[in-house]
Amino acid sequence: MTTAEVPAFPMERVAKCPFDPPPEGMALLRETPITRVRLWDGSTPWLVTRFAEQRALLADPRVSADVRRPGYPSPAPVRPGGSGIGFILMDDPEHARLRRMVTAPFSVKRVRAMAPAVQNIVDDLIDEMLAGPKPVDLVEAFALPVPSLVICELLGVPYADHAFFQDNSKTIVRRDAAPEDRFAASAELTKYLDGLMEQKLANPADDLLSALAERVRAGELTRMDAAQIGVLLLIAGHETTANMIALGTLALLEHPGQLALVRDGDPAVVDSAVEELLRYLNITHNGRRRVALEDIEIAGEVIRAGEGIILANDLANRDPDVFPDGDRLDVTRNARRHVAFGFGVHQCLGQQLARLELRIAYGTLYRRVPTLALATEIERVPFKHDGSVYGVYELPVTW
Ligand code: HEM
Repeated sequence: MTTAEVPAFPMERVAKCPFDPPPEGMALLRETPITRVRLWDGSTPWLVTRFAEQRALLADPRVSADVRRPGYPSPAPVRPGGSGIGFILMDDPEHARLRRMVTAPFSVKRVRAMAPAVQNIVDDLIDEMLAGPKPVDLVEAFALPVPSLVICELLGVPYADHAFFQDNSKTIVRRDAAPEDRFAASAELTKYLDGLMEQKLANPADDLLSALAERVRAGELTRMDAAQIGVLLLIAGHETTANMIALGTLALLEHPGQLALVRDGDPAVVDSAVEELLRYLNITHNGRRRVALEDIEIAGEVIRAGEGIILANDLANRDPDVFPDGDRLDVTRNARRHVAFGFGVHQCLGQQLARLELRIAYGTLYRRVPTLALATEIERVPFKHDGSVYGVYELPVTW
């Protein structure tokens, strides 16, 4: 096959079924576990479509997440000299060393202890929403403030700065933003976090940035690494969960039978709805990106050292061998094996926190606002086809 004949990487979900992976991707999932695709820069990395092969590769130490390596299949131009977004794009042992410095507050036990605070945030926002005019944009009024308030509290970032960091973070995750704008937004956020780090060095508090500042003081971490970890946690902590709250709500409004099950409030159903919505919606829709360090034989092909690999987790989450009838949203399904949080050493650090926020948000919103309804036609909802995290820009709702 010549380069021109290699099919383009399937990017766009289609308006007709905004919750499903692109139809070209679904066709590839049916045809083959692994194939070549063409990217925006003309490169032709491997696309891995199925669940078993993806988990095998994501757990394979011969596979690198280092964006600076030649052959890395980047979804957009990369800033010369590195990414600037912390350990998510690094390999072990450096990745593990840095990740370990911030794992403690994300453990199951520590996250469980945050439940009352998250419940208060959710209740207060719903009170405010109900007291205000309608229709209202659910993204602005609820989906974005819930995780932003939570991550600000955990990191020790002033929520009063939310317009600044949300705007910059929005630019960073827009795939179609001009590269200079993305680099500038990333530099702005790094500078902002570095300023906070300076404050925490002078006046430590009981928060994660102060813990990082302590590592800087002890000489275990550079100021730059600390600021970049702060940027990573701030972006990852609110962009993803906010999109899951809004898009998950839209998916449920479009499936009233499923919404009724969640609204009934049985904690076991709310829990399984969280996993099922993560699987079904798969908001990190551009796939995990990696590059082979050695030749790797898989599914009858050989991925050569230096070749790029895209693990399409949205397709793996529809793999019929693992999720029968996977195109159907079924909140009673046991979907816990999904790869919406990735797999292997880079598996989402914040997954317990995300689960807690989603459980409380879905479990409270529909119960307290039982008549919640979309205030526009679904065709008019602006979807984030251009984002590296999928979701909706706005969701007008009424009740
Ligand atoms: C529903 C919400 C979320 C989804 C769907 C999600 C998804 C993911 C995925 C797929 C990865 C793997 C990246 C890769 O392998 O290349 C990841 C990594 C990561 N996530 Fe999340 N995430 C969510 C919420 C959060 C939250 C709330 C935080 C809190 C700070 C967070 C922090 C991180 C970090 C730090 C990493 C990098 C881990 C590493 O490289 O070792 N995420 N996330």
